[in-house]
Amino acid sequence: MTGETTSTADPVASAPGLVGTIAGIREAVAAHRRDGRTVALVPTMGALHDGHLALVRRAREIADVVVVSIFVNPLQFGAGEDLDRYPRTLESDLAALGRDGVELVFAPTAAEMYPAGEVETRVTAGHVGTLYEGASRPGHFDGVLTVVSKLFHIVQPDHALFGQKDAQQVFLVQRMVRDLDLPVRVEVVPTVREPDGLAMSSRNRYLDAEQRRIALALSESLAAAESAAADGLDEVLAEAAGAFGDHDGIELDYLVVVDPETFLPVVEGAAGPARVLVAARVGATRLIDNGLITLG
Ligand code: PAF
Repeated sequence: MTGETTSTADPVASAPGLVGTIAGIREAVAAHRRDGRTVALVPTMGALHDGHLALVRRAREIADVVVVSIFVNPLQFGAGEDLDRYPRTLESDLAALGRDGVELVFAPTAAEMYPAGEVETRVTAGHVGTLYEGASRPGHFDGVLTVVSKLFHIVQPDHALFGQKDAQQVFLVQRMVRDLDLPVRVEVVPTVREPDGLAMSSRNRYLDAEQRRIALALSESLAAAESAAADGLDEVLAEAAGAFGDHDGIELDYLVVVDPETFLPVVEGAAGPARVLVAARVGATRLIDNGLITLG
């Protein structure tokens, strides 16, 4: 891979242009813009699954050119997290993106994105960035927002697409776009699930067969929360937590019901739309999920 736009040798698909440098992707996007085309960016860390491909397909509907970034961002991983073992599957990612007609893949190295190593200048995610995922993974959302804002500045897309599965990330990205007046429209695409309900995630591939079965507690807890929603917050929390009682080998990290507008926890007696957030550890693998309910 070079700074130039190159093609991979996939005989079936029309391979996307693979670009490794910031200058190269700017040039490639500028060429499309000169021809009057609109651009959508789908930021990813690779290890693509159908959830990512749903973002790509939606991007294709709303823009002329789709750019997918593939970058395992070291800034959003804490000490002891899975940065080194995070799955890197560039060849199969490119083949999948080629089949979906993606024009450009931006896959920089860490040295390209952070030539000075640790960056001093970062976007801070504020108080909400320290809650839930942020409490378990300190600094995670500062790392996410920093790389997302870099990608926005590099690609300058008209649209950027994110998956609802990472609900807190979506909330924080949307707020960053508002707070910093970034000229991009963020579109959120519903979570894609396996037939049995498990939310698709690149980390699912860490699970062995037994862990894969146990991991269903997350989606089961959301279903339980939805069934109890008319009875109020306390019932929702009790029923949703109950889904974990039946499983050994899974450790609940947090289960919380938040106001979708503020992302702060709702209190007993609240009524109307609310989002249930759940995170659990299955062996060494941390999984998250969420769902919208209407509290009665
Ligand atoms: O959701 C992800 O895969 C990552 O957090 C993102 C948005 C690509 C930033 O690294």
